[in-house]
Amino acid sequence: MMLRSQIAGCGGYLPERVLTNEELALRLDTSDAWIRQRTGIAERRIAAPGELTSDLAVRAAEQALGRAGMSGSDLDLLVVATATPDNTFPATAARVQARIGMKRGAAFDIQAVCAGFIFALAAADNALRLGQARTALVIGAETFSRILDWNDRSTCVLFGDGAGAVVLNAVKGSSRGILSTHLHSDGGGYEALYVDGGPSSTGTAGFVRMNGREVFRQAVEHLSEVVAEALAANRLAAADIDWLVPHQANIRIIEGVGRKLGLSDEKIVVTIDRHANTSAASIPLALEAAVEDGRIKAGDLVLIEALGGGLSWGASLIRW
Ligand code: UT7
Repeated sequence: MMLRSQIAGCGGYLPERVLTNEELALRLDTSDAWIRQRTGIAERRIAAPGELTSDLAVRAAEQALGRAGMSGSDLDLLVVATATPDNTFPATAARVQARIGMKRGAAFDIQAVCAGFIFALAAADNALRLGQARTALVIGAETFSRILDWNDRSTCVLFGDGAGAVVLNAVKGSSRGILSTHLHSDGGGYEALYVDGGPSSTGTAGFVRMNGREVFRQAVEHLSEVVAEALAANRLAAADIDWLVPHQANIRIIEGVGRKLGLSDEKIVVTIDRHANTSAASIPLALEAAVEDGRIKAGDLVLIEALGGGLSWGASLIRW
């Protein structure tokens, strides 16, 4: 009988410090009105000095495990999606593994920037369906505030810090769970969104550099394609979708994809106003919010989609 990865619990964590648009406008040539109109962002969270990606990841992980009625020792796979690891190596997942008391199995990071959560979810789902693991924790965790050029208004206003996590269980013969995952990359788009540092190039961590207009154009195009691919693979129609939980990069991209699918705004989970773009953390944070406030319920059809640096993009359909 077919194995499927079922969601057993979600968790999220946001650092305490809130940074508003108004505060940014005091030190940069920008305005609350510009940021809200062009992106949908009102505020973002910033990790405290010394608060690392692994710290955020552990908080989200503990909440997800608690809600699943599980502990770290029940897990046999841990995948952390992050573009802002604590150190160049080992994987941030190794530190998280030790801190949540996970004693067996494998722990590794996945690097697909803003699409990272979907890539990590796909890796875990594949392992569960193949029987390589029975219980997995997938985390998206980022401290983008550490790789922002705070003098570049075209990038520093867009991002925030945070972490989200989901626990997956391999279950036999259920119609609920991850229905499919769809991943794509186009390395030809490397320079549209990258960090101008790294261990092999400059020896420094570097800062985010982005051709916003180009990434915007590619996002609308590729997200529409991959969403159509996910629906077709499951013989489902846009009208079957209960919730669109998109990567939160720009409200205009989110609404553009929603419009193409003919979804009403009430079916789209939006957190960008409060979280800004938290890269790999944005989707699991949005899932956690919508599950906790009672919007996403057992049996609902949930569509997630994201595009980010690489370029890399993907989508997944989940019967909750
Ligand atoms: O998660 C990873 C994927 N990332 C994305 O999906 C991001 C995709 N791109 C975007 O979201 C948008 O392109 C941005 C929000 C980054 C920019 O919005 P835009 O509508 O594409 O603006 P633009 O880059 O074309 O800039 C328009 C104007 C420019 O001024 P001029 O040249 O028209 O005089 C910019 O200099 O806005 C200016 N500008 C700003 N003004 C005030 C750029 N940033 C700011 C700012 N405040 N923070």
